[in-house]
Amino acid sequence: MTALSNSSATIRDYDNTHYMHPWEVVASMGKADRTISASAEGIYIYDGEGKRLIDGPGGMWCTQIGNGRRDMADAIAEQTMRLAYHSPWNTSCEPGALLAHKLAELSPGDLNTVFFTTGGSTAVDSAIRYMHFYNNRLGRPEKKMVIGRAKGYHGSTYLAASATGRDRKSNALDVDDERFHLLPDVNPSLRPDGMSMDDWAKAKATDLEDAILKFGADKVGAFIAEPLLASGGVIIPAPGYHKLCLEVCRKHDVLYISDEVVTGFGRLGHWFSSEDVFDIVPDMITCAKGLTSGYLPLGACLISDRLVNELKTPENEGVMFNNGFTYGGHPVSCAAALKNIEIFENEGILEHVRALTPHFQERLHSLGELPNVAETRGLGFMGCVEATVESEDDPDEANAKFGRTVDKHCEEMGLIVRPIGHMCVFSPPLIMKEKEIDMMFDILREAITRAAAEL
Ligand SMILES: Cc1ncc(COP(=O)(O)O)c(C=O)c1O
Repeated sequence: MTALSNSSATIRDYDNTHYMHPWEVVASMGKADRTISASAEGIYIYDGEGKRLIDGPGGMWCTQIGNGRRDMADAIAEQTMRLAYHSPWNTSCEPGALLAHKLAELSPGDLNTVFFTTGGSTAVDSAIRYMHFYNNRLGRPEKKMVIGRAKGYHGSTYLAASATGRDRKSNALDVDDERFHLLPDVNPSLRPDGMSMDDWAKAKATDLEDAILKFGADKVGAFIAEPLLASGGVIIPAPGYHKLCLEVCRKHDVLYISDEVVTGFGRLGHWFSSEDVFDIVPDMITCAKGLTSGYLPLGACLISDRLVNELKTPENEGVMFNNGFTYGGHPVSCAAALKNIEIFENEGILEHVRALTPHFQERLHSLGELPNVAETRGLGFMGCVEATVESEDDPDEANAKFGRTVDKHCEEMGLIVRPIGHMCVFSPPLIMKEKEIDMMFDILREAITRAAAEL
């Protein structure tokens, strides 16, 4: 633990004593001694003692336009003074309507209806609930099962957590195992020796079809997939995989929900990646995070015209989709999202990501030559370095300890990484320049080298 000024020490003490963080190890509460983020600017976070750290994970995959933007603060302040709140049940508001229109424009295909939520989990919950509603109203109440995937992450509300495959075994919380089913890992590096990527994509799409046939197409309502598995370790499926899965879904009348909470808003160089990168137009897209660049909480579930129009029938007159959140589509959050999109457009952020992606990926993959790096994976401004350490006793713990050591060295040298066990995952602000990308990967390289020397 570093020496702290009085005020930082007090903050840390209050934090340890009272603040239960996400994924808290409850038995260790009071001992965490987390770094206190005090302020931020651009790609940097400053801790309580003024130490500057590169924001490697982009907050939580979300600080696309970077921190501390005055124009964003002004837009937020202006909307706060004009209309800080209105009930989305009773009235509408200008930022919400403008943003819904804009999202319909930016999204692929006929995804023209926007249901606003408070974040990613509530967007996923709303997509699953819309599937429930849709099938109930079409007179097929048995068609509700959701198929997700090992290592997928969809959030922390009950439905979103039930669709989540990550940490399923170590999860001490209940999930709905009856209405949710998880497919095996899609990571192409697991394919048998000699199997082509094409055959792996087909095999993984067959996993989906087999599951639909096993449970019965009359029971399966939706398939949910992140375009690439983000917090599962930036796992990129084999080319063509999503397209094959969409075909399977169409064949069995199963809805395809593309969870773009991480991949939306520029992470892969496009507003959304479903169509532009993976060549699919799903039935629903969920987004959040980069939608406001993390300045304020907001999520959205985009729904296709087909799913809405099929319910515009006389027998559905007056039937409500009883789902909504007090702060869904909050006017100030919508104003922040509009400002965020304006900044993207004015500053060419999507083009910037596309132009620097080859350099980012080259620097990432060059780490593969280091001893103790088992694999590097990435796409766009996203990457993962997977470390491995030989240990006869407990390889998982040895790998996780190595990850923590890399993390410690990175932080000493001015870089935040986000170790998920033995994996360092990167998704920095999208405004990162070439020399800052170099700085980030130089630090990581040195941290891995130091951690390896300490083994
Ligand atoms: C792909 C994906 N979906 C959904 C969520 C949940 O979003 P939130 O934490 O905003 O509820 C996350 C969060 O990391 C995510 O990565």
